[in-house]
Amino acid sequence: MSELAILGGPKTRTQPYPKWPVWDQRDIDAVTAVIRSGQWGGYPYPGPNTAALAKQFADLQGGGYAVVMANGTVTMEVALRAAGVGWGDEVIVPAFTFQATASAPMAAGAIPVLVDVDPENYCLDPRAAEKAITARTRAIMPVHLGSNMADMDAIMDLAERYDLIVVEDCAHAHGAKWRGKGAGTIGHFGSFSMQSSKILTTGEGGILLCRTPELAAKAASIIDCGRPHAPGGGGEIDSDEYMMGGNYRLSEIASALALVGLERFPAQQKEREAMAAYMDESLSEIPGVRVLRRDERLTTRSFYQYIFAIQPEIFGLEHDVVCAAMEAEGILCETGYPAMHHYDLFQPQKSRLAVPNAFPEYFRFEEMSLPEAERACEHEAVWLDEAIFRDGPQGVDDVIDALRKVQRHAEELGHAAAEWKSAHK
Ligand SMILES: Cc1ncc(COP(=O)(O)O)c(C=O)c1O
Repeated sequence: MSELAILGGPKTRTQPYPKWPVWDQRDIDAVTAVIRSGQWGGYPYPGPNTAALAKQFADLQGGGYAVVMANGTVTMEVALRAAGVGWGDEVIVPAFTFQATASAPMAAGAIPVLVDVDPENYCLDPRAAEKAITARTRAIMPVHLGSNMADMDAIMDLAERYDLIVVEDCAHAHGAKWRGKGAGTIGHFGSFSMQSSKILTTGEGGILLCRTPELAAKAASIIDCGRPHAPGGGGEIDSDEYMMGGNYRLSEIASALALVGLERFPAQQKEREAMAAYMDESLSEIPGVRVLRRDERLTTRSFYQYIFAIQPEIFGLEHDVVCAAMEAEGILCETGYPAMHHYDLFQPQKSRLAVPNAFPEYFRFEEMSLPEAERACEHEAVWLDEAIFRDGPQGVDDVIDALRKVQRHAEELGHAAAEWKSAHK
């Protein structure tokens, strides 16, 4: 019998990982208090829990005016709309990210222009971004992907030289710092998700950090059905200045949960950061595994998932086969997102996406070549779940043991995978 779990052998890890989300009596008490208060919803905006969350989250990141809203997708759409980015404008987006980073500009009426990523950290490559700038470019949306941050020095330099709005997609980066500055406080906006898997969660939710009180007032107005809001987004005011808006408010129940989550956050972040350093060190000893560059300007590392690269020609297997084998070994891992131009939404034969007549050239996704994103998404990337990093050194040791085991049996697994793939062609 094979030693590999995927071929019927024993698993490397059989015990469960620490659960997410973490909760205790404090969460129950916080929700109960909101229920008793009778103020369950998000109107009038912001309610007491939402206002406290906005203040405490801005303190955690060390700046900005926070506007709490429904999720980490509308945050980006609202940011663009608050900055006046809209119909026909181009917004530069990295090709390695979740679909929301590209769909948010479309929801605002703008065109996402996909650019390649830096192979060393899988985040937006500022050189590729500069090449993509045209007279129509209005904004750039770096994504702090996995356990890295995009090169914010180079991106802010581009923004200054070309007069661009910067919306940082920080869905993975609550608590991360670049040269001591919080993710989301460096650009004009920082967009955070609190969806159920994220490291600060309310089940669903989002927070937008805005650089100025005026931008925050516009963002608050857009999410509160267009009602005029005070500078900073702190509440409705008596004014005639309505904006086009919708209801993207977050409920008080959800905000109360996030406030309890914030109490736990610093200890969880420290634990993940320490275990990520141990993971870097341990992975770097395995041939055919590439640890992504840890930029020294990333002064506090905080992350949602940890990404490393398989070098298929050295390791002996492609990342999808490694991930399937690791999962069978009991390790929480996955291959992650497809390259953005390969997302099903952008495949004409699969999608009902209405391509605007005015700009059809931007939507020829099937003709695009973005080699670094393709290599990363289709051959190399392995995403490790954050629960691994809340399991102490054992969590890391199990990943390493499983990976070494898979590599020892690479030849046997390679044959099995080739047979399986040819049978399922
Ligand atoms: C990089 C990135 N951006 C944006 C989002 C969107 O966040 P939400 O699910 O809260 O809309 C996600 C969520 O998975 C994400 O991973």
